[in-house]
Amino acid sequence: MATTNTMVWRYIVLLLMIYTSSTDEITKLITISDSLMNSVPDYSRFFTVDELFNHSRVVAFTHPNLVKYQNVGYSRNGEAIPMLSIGNGSKSLLLYACPHPNEPIGSLLVDFLLDALFEHIDLLEAYTWHLLPCVDPDGTRLNEGWFSGPFTIRNYAQYFYRPRTEEQVEWTFPIVHKNYSWSTPSNETQALMNAIQFTQPDFVYGLHNSGFGGMYYYISQPLSDIFPELEQLPSTLGLFLAKGEAESPWVTQFAPAIFSPLSLRNAYDYYEKYTHIDPVSMMSGGGTSFDYLEEIGLNNTIFLMAELPYFQSPVVANDTIIPNRTERDVLLQGLDKDDESLFQCFN
Ligand SMILES: *[C@@H]1O[C@H](CO)[C@@H](O)[C@H](O)[C@H]1NC(C)=O
Ligand SMILES: *[C@@H]1O[C@H](CO)[C@@H](O)[C@H](O)[C@H]1NC(C)=O
Ligand SMILES: *[C@@H]1O[C@H](CO)[C@@H](O)[C@H](O)[C@H]1NC(C)=O
Ligand SMILES: *[C@@H]1O[C@H](CO)[C@@H](O)[C@H](O)[C@H]1NC(C)=O
Ligand SMILES: *[C@@H]1O[C@H](CO)[C@@H](O)[C@H](O)[C@H]1NC(C)=O
Ligand SMILES: *[C@@H]1O[C@H](CO)[C@@H](O)[C@H](O)[C@H]1NC(C)=O
Ligand SMILES: *[C@@H]1O[C@H](CO)[C@@H](O)[C@H](O)[C@H]1NC(C)=O
Ligand SMILES: [Zn+2]
Repeated sequence: MATTNTMVWRYIVLLLMIYTSSTDEITKLITISDSLMNSVPDYSRFFTVDELFNHSRVVAFTHPNLVKYQNVGYSRNGEAIPMLSIGNGSKSLLLYACPHPNEPIGSLLVDFLLDALFEHIDLLEAYTWHLLPCVDPDGTRLNEGWFSGPFTIRNYAQYFYRPRTEEQVEWTFPIVHKNYSWSTPSNETQALMNAIQFTQPDFVYGLHNSGFGGMYYYISQPLSDIFPELEQLPSTLGLFLAKGEAESPWVTQFAPAIFSPLSLRNAYDYYEKYTHIDPVSMMSGGGTSFDYLEEIGLNNTIFLMAELPYFQSPVVANDTIIPNRTERDVLLQGLDKDDESLFQCFN
């Protein structure tokens, strides 16, 4: 687990380099990065929502002059959703953890930054860090049963919770696209909308993670300078790069395992182009945070997601082509297996 958290920190440093103008600044960033990498704790479990929020309040209380603590919204259950703004640099960075409540890896990163940032004044002078320790506290609480391990697939499945698409933070931003519209953001999405409006971010990092397979990335701009590093990161840390196809056929592949972000607009257009069915009948939920950035004119904001798995197998790195077997065949075979196991459950 230390590995994964270390990695997420490294992505940020790579991204920050885009904003730095001089080699001196880049050298300084790399030095800071190395020092931070060495100080990442060896986490053995995930933190509960109480622990994350408690830590946030303690940090705000300890550094009253450097931290602005505010609630950007209230969850469906009425719990406050806090955001901490740290530093006063000209570049605005927004990081939000637990957009999917079964994906808490990024909450470790935020928790780490809540202490580490104060040890590097350069980071506070060049950037303003807006951190949401947990944007979906209700859903995350429902996952806490597996946060202390044992980290087995069975335990994860047993205590797993994830809302349906129409209730997810990341999929209910208001949007109008051609004949489709969605105007009922969830409470948690409203909180994130407020955070985005308030911070007008130059960089947004949605801290998702995946369950299985190899690592891959979503990024809003083809920043090809950093792609080779992104591709190499997994192997330097004993992980695998996912070399298979994208999660959705309507994203653009910029490089191996690096894709344009998920977008409702692109999904609609894809259905419109390749089917004879009204796309509206196939859509549900709202826009993504990337859609929302465009919707409000923040088209130059860099949006990043890094999908790193809990469980991996070297099989994902095997790119042997199996003759005459398409992905369609494999997916259909998977569906047949699902049917078989359901049949066994009910009989
Ligand atoms: C909250 O943080 C304080 C200070 O670190 C600690 O003493 C206390 O035990 C924490 N409470 C919980 C519920 O984590
Ligand atoms: C959740 O959002 C709904 C719709 O905007 C609102 O009426 C309700 O007050 C919100 N709930 C809380 C606890 O803020
Ligand atoms: C940022 O905060 C530091 C420390 O409080 C202060 O010295 C500096 O002047 C501030 N810079 C800006 C641009 O507000
Ligand atoms: C929207 O719907 C109307 C009526 O169903 C249809 O005529 C039109 O072609 C649709 N527009 C788009 C962009 O799909
Ligand atoms: C930003 O994106 C929106 C949605 O795609 C588009 O309508 C708008 O023209 C874009 N604005 C700029 C300045 O590129
Ligand atoms: C890679 O996959 C192929 C086809 O399934 C298989 O024959 C081969 O043994 C695999 N290689 C490794 C190293 O697992
Ligand atoms: C693959 O399919 C082609 C065309 O259907 C066929 O000619 C060929 O013999 C098949 N190869 C294998 C290994 O099944
Ligand atoms: Zn996710």
